[in-house]
Amino acid sequence: MKVIRSAHLLRAALHGGHHAHPTIALVPTMGAYHEGHLALLRAAKRDHPQVVVSLFVNPTQFNDPEDLARYPRDLAGDMDKAAAAGCDILFVPVVEEIYPPGFATRVEVGRIAEPFEGAHRPGHFTGVATVVAKLFNIVSPDAAYFGMKDYQQTLVVRRLVADLNLGVEIVALPTVREPDGLAMSSRNQRLIPASRSRASALYRTLCACRDHLQTLAPGEPVAAALAAGRAALAAAGLTVDYFAAAHPDTLETVATADGPRVLLAAVDCDGVRLIDNVAVACRRAGAG
Ligand code: PAF
Repeated sequence: MKVIRSAHLLRAALHGGHHAHPTIALVPTMGAYHEGHLALLRAAKRDHPQVVVSLFVNPTQFNDPEDLARYPRDLAGDMDKAAAAGCDILFVPVVEEIYPPGFATRVEVGRIAEPFEGAHRPGHFTGVATVVAKLFNIVSPDAAYFGMKDYQQTLVVRRLVADLNLGVEIVALPTVREPDGLAMSSRNQRLIPASRSRASALYRTLCACRDHLQTLAPGEPVAAALAAGRAALAAAGLTVDYFAAAHPDTLETVATADGPRVLLAAVDCDGVRLIDNVAVACRRAGAG
């Protein structure tokens, strides 16, 4: 595995030869690797001969400077894990490489970026879309791999690719979970043992609410199931930012059970923000 720190050298390594290049997969990350990242990397390596992993804790997507300062970092451990999982090039730019002096352009993705994470973390998706657009331009990948834990992020990136004709295939892979269901996340490292056991209530509650919604007749209101979910999270000691049912493509919130839905949640668990989601297959009006 090569480690490259400059965009110019990375482009030369990937596209400098005269022969047709083998296809390239990009796995954009912010480091502190866990099995969720490694599953993306292995899938990328299975599908493409060249895998570039970017490791960049992107300051513009953090709306809270303390959150940025506390974000876990482990470059030495990440280098070993990435190499073992099949990474060919680890791109580790410094902040000035991505945001040189005078940097002024921002990518706004519109409505899909507004609710949920967009509403609770102002500017977050502008930062994500801007850095992802830059990484796509630097690497020119054929495909890019993202985890479904960040459900809204995958929709934002798909919108970005479609609207700007970026021509990158977006591969979204299922969330990798701990044995008790907690979605793997770099932030989980910051949970102390008491908080860690409380954190599992998030996925448990999402699954219970999903099961409840799937018993409803088409068109029945979802409000009572959502209220029960919020109450269960509060009883487990989690502070709810949002716990909502939405249309899986548009993220418009829905008031009734009718066809596919996604349940999205964000909670604070003793100062650590956790997000998760589950797909819901509600019965559809008119279906047998
Ligand atoms: O999901 C992440 O780790 C980040 O949001 C991403 C896509 C690497 C952009 O900084």
